[in-house]
Amino acid sequence: MSDGATRVYLTGAGGFVGSNLARAFAGHGADVVAPTHGAVDLTDARAVARSVAAARPDAIVHAAIWNDPAALLTDRRRAWSSYVGATRHLADAANATGAHLVLVSTDWVFDGTQGPATEDEPPNPINPYGFLKAASELVVTERAERGTVARIAGVQGLHLAHRNTPRRQDAGFGYLVASLVDALRQGRRFTVWDGPGLNVLATPTLASDAAELIWRAVQRGVTGTLHCCGGEHADRVGLARRAVAAFGLDENLLAVGPPDPAALPAGGVPFDTRLDATATAAALDAELPDLDTMLARLRAELDPSRSAA
Ligand SMILES: NC(=O)c1ccc[n+]([C@@H]2O[C@H](COP(=O)([O-])OP(=O)(O)OC[C@H]3O[C@@H](n4cnc5c(N)ncnc54)[C@H](OP(=O)(O)O)[C@@H]3O)[C@@H](O)[C@H]2O)c1
Repeated sequence: MSDGATRVYLTGAGGFVGSNLARAFAGHGADVVAPTHGAVDLTDARAVARSVAAARPDAIVHAAIWNDPAALLTDRRRAWSSYVGATRHLADAANATGAHLVLVSTDWVFDGTQGPATEDEPPNPINPYGFLKAASELVVTERAERGTVARIAGVQGLHLAHRNTPRRQDAGFGYLVASLVDALRQGRRFTVWDGPGLNVLATPTLASDAAELIWRAVQRGVTGTLHCCGGEHADRVGLARRAVAAFGLDENLLAVGPPDPAALPAGGVPFDTRLDATATAAALDAELPDLDTMLARLRAELDPSRSAA
């Protein structure tokens, strides 16, 4: 498959991860078809089938999710149809058009005691989000004729569709570095949470790096389960300290403290979700960046006048 000839049907392109995928794919000359949620609701099987058939993609990359962790517990039907149903509709559409289906998934399919989890470690989710993602993974592995599960983890980076909205700290790692950089650059104190009830250990991943790995999977037609993550594990406080150093920030503004109990989701979150990506790196012939490389790249993304590592 040559770069210019690749047509990718991308879901969730208006989101954090999806906006990075869209940019990376376009940067490789791909023809990206990315209908908005308003244009195609993925819970509508007919709309998905029509839209994918019209696009005739080489690959479908599915990054959309209903991103409302609390509501997943209270509206289980909508949750099931938004995660599992949507993935099934895309698998059927992929099979009908001969496309390769790539599901963007998560390290939270593991229970927090399995790290560093290899690609073939059986998922054992402990909360509704992890359960719905693990069920969606099964749809891809069992139903798609050419299917890939691309797990990402502790995602750092810039939301390219909503640039000025770094998400607040939560029980996971997502956006942690951008949030603390935002605070410290404004002279505000940032308390990185540590303690029980949190995802404390993970394998931080730059969204744009994950996008490059997923592009490689598409180009090479790699199927199966991949860990499209960074190359170095970290705990929350360690990541925060390395970020302060990498961005040349005032370490006196960084504090460590317990989480806001209101921010801890019901059902809990997995403690240690480190991913082992040795097999993925070999399958994609890719070198996974260490933390300092990842942070230097993130700094270059945040400050485009700087050159990337
Ligand atoms: N962020 C992380 O730290 C992280 C970590 C591990 C894995 N992931 C995975 O990465 C993927 C993307 O996550 P994200 O953080 O980028 O999410 P996000 O920023 O909330 O984006 C989700 C996107 O999905 C769209 N969407 C939601 N429901 C839809 C539907 N029924 N039909 C069509 N589009 C729909 C949303 O559109 P509207 O906004 O218009 O509704 C939005 O554009 C997910 O699969 C997630 O599991 C993320």
